[in-house]
Amino acid sequence: MNALRLIATGGALPGRTVTNEELSHMVDTSDEWITTRTGIRTRHWCTAEENAATLAIAAAKQALERSGLAPADIGCCICATLSAPDATPSVACRVQAALALPENRPALDVNAACSGFLYGTAVARGLLATMGGRYALVVGCEALSRLMDPADRSTCVLFGDGAGAAIFELTADPVPFAAVLGARGSAVLHAGGPSRTGSAPITMDGKAVFRFAVDALPQCLHAVLEETGRTLDEVDWVVCHQANSRIIDHCVRALKADPAKFYKNMERHGNTSAASIPVALNELAESGRLQPGQLLACIGFGGGLTWGGMIVEYK
Ligand code: ACO
Repeated sequence: MNALRLIATGGALPGRTVTNEELSHMVDTSDEWITTRTGIRTRHWCTAEENAATLAIAAAKQALERSGLAPADIGCCICATLSAPDATPSVACRVQAALALPENRPALDVNAACSGFLYGTAVARGLLATMGGRYALVVGCEALSRLMDPADRSTCVLFGDGAGAAIFELTADPVPFAAVLGARGSAVLHAGGPSRTGSAPITMDGKAVFRFAVDALPQCLHAVLEETGRTLDEVDWVVCHQANSRIIDHCVRALKADPAKFYKNMERHGNTSAASIPVALNELAESGRLQPGQLLACIGFGGGLTWGGMIVEYK
């Protein structure tokens, strides 16, 4: 049946923490504006020595250690990012080298913006099922501070840097699992590559993205619930892309759902695009709130436009 099971997580956050107060000295904004519109209070930005690949390597090492697996057990390495430091070598190849993963396994980057971790997991599942292997390493990593115009108050307050890693097991056991992905080409959210920083920083039609997100999130959730024959009550944690707390609050109200099962951490990290879901999974696991046997629904939506949903069991 080619289901995945989440077996271990890791995470890494860069050294510099930027508060709303600090931003209010850089651009014409205020802690009050940012917190009421987005729920974000702090975010982390890379220092000069850090980038999406250094964070990815740290998160991946932690996940591998916690899994108890050896590098040779990893069947493929996928890194989801839109802010890789270089076009090549990919972040995934840098992770392969740093962790000494076997050379006869695929390693590649995936770019689906904020849905990247879900796209990356789907690619990993397909590779394991068709090329062999039992375990996949999937990383979401971003250095969005390198893509932003620090003088643009409409975007620089939103984004942060970070990485989260997950190890999945492909299993024939009848565990609940479902994945959906989708795309609708539109440039309402646009960013140039790191090499073009300055010429094409992140721009966004915030209201259009908000409307898209509150439409995509419940649709993805319904789709994966339907595919697994589960109800929202049977899901222990809903881990959505952490763009903005108002997007999640809006959906919780529309779904008449229990807000306590919708994990939120954008208050501390801002929007870390492809890293946001695995960073959240890692926090849930590290804190002991995510328990073996629990069911997760992960929902991503973002640039592209892209979206994705997954239901997966932990351990
Ligand atoms: N501080 C103070 N004022 C600001 C700031 C700021 N940081 N940014 C914008 N403003 C001003 C604008 O200039 C505008 O002023 P004006 O009325 O004098 O022209 C006013 O605030 C309203 O601006 P809007 O862009 O209309 O603000 P809005 O209420 O839409 O809030 C926000 C912006 C928070 C981005 C909102 O559109 C939103 O929540 N969008 C969801 C999309 C999102 O979070 N995207 C993140 C990345 S995409 C993703 O991850 C999927």
